Amino acid sequence: MQSLLNPHLASMEEYTPIQPFEVLSRRLGIPVNEIVKLDANENPYGPHPAVAEALAEYAYYHIYPDPQQTELREALSAYLGTPAEYILPSHGADELLDYLCRLFLVPGDAIINTPPTFGMYSFDAKLAGAEVIDAWRGDGYHVDVDAICQLAHAPVPKLLFLTSPNNPSGTWLPDDDLRRLLELPLMVVLDEAYVEFAAAKSRARWVLEYDNLVVLRTFSKAAGIAGLRLGYGIFPAWLMPYLWKFKQPYNVNVAASVAGLASLRHANEMGSIVEKIKAERDRLFRALQTVPYLFPFPSSANFVLCRVERWEAAALKLALEQRGILVRYYHKPGLENCIRISVGRPEQTDRLLAELRRLA
Ligand SMILES: Cc1ncc(COP(=O)(O)O)c(C=O)c1O
Repeated sequence: MQSLLNPHLASMEEYTPIQPFEVLSRRLGIPVNEIVKLDANENPYGPHPAVAEALAEYAYYHIYPDPQQTELREALSAYLGTPAEYILPSHGADELLDYLCRLFLVPGDAIINTPPTFGMYSFDAKLAGAEVIDAWRGDGYHVDVDAICQLAHAPVPKLLFLTSPNNPSGTWLPDDDLRRLLELPLMVVLDEAYVEFAAAKSRARWVLEYDNLVVLRTFSKAAGIAGLRLGYGIFPAWLMPYLWKFKQPYNVNVAASVAGLASLRHANEMGSIVEKIKAERDRLFRALQTVPYLFPFPSSANFVLCRVERWEAAALKLALEQRGILVRYYHKPGLENCIRISVGRPEQTDRLLAELRRLA
């Protein structure tokens, strides 16, 4: 029966998600509320209290959601300053990555990826049977614009995935670089999952200017509702009819939509939490510079990537884990012996730093 499977799936590597909180808590024998979870770039403050209130008060969980998400799209339009006709909410930004790959790619097509970066671009492209052409990031994990310009023509790739700030490096893609890349004859997907934490502004409104740009955003990070799965994309007008045709009718559940609307009603308070996280990131970065075996990279996001010396990053991750502190570790091209630490609450940073110093 296996021979009936889609052949390109057999050779694909699995996506390795991080272990769920409760599973880890059981494995480590540490209660969930004592674990310092700095491994998935989640918001340590969670959502605004109005989210829980709105979810408790909502009376129509037995009714299917609005497939067009009219109210949420209008609220997003006011928040972004972009017409609602350009906006499509989703089951997390991840869902839109999958949609884009399946909308544009057939086996034999190609995408350009800029590793080291978020793993879902190459994963979804491979799922669609496409080839992944890598334009490796250069010094400081900056996008190599010249290399991409050379790769963009032969064999012609259809999609270019960019992330700003990039995960896991936290690198910002400057406006001039993005403008050059938008001149290329392909669709540019700009993933702005962490844009709220950057000093510079979102390029969501550029979609009105460029018909080959898609910008993806999420409520998982700044709004703190990763568990509810809510993202959205800003798409050029010509692409929207295809997305409407293509998408699952009820891709956004009512709880996500109620939570998203409540978050947007409190956008200012959300902004204050983001400012708190940015200040804590800067403190974390400075403190990590003083840990003798860590070399942190400046970050525009809610995490800091560090190169590790004198320790195997995997062993360091395990040593921290045994002390109830979770970080992400990498050992792959471009990320040799690295850990990524998400920004937590100040007391979590203090606990992390104390353990890092003890392990020196
Ligand atoms: C760069 C990037 N894009 C997208 C996502 C996924 O976003 P969502 O939770 O909205 O699916 C993540 C999650 O970590 C990410 O790092």
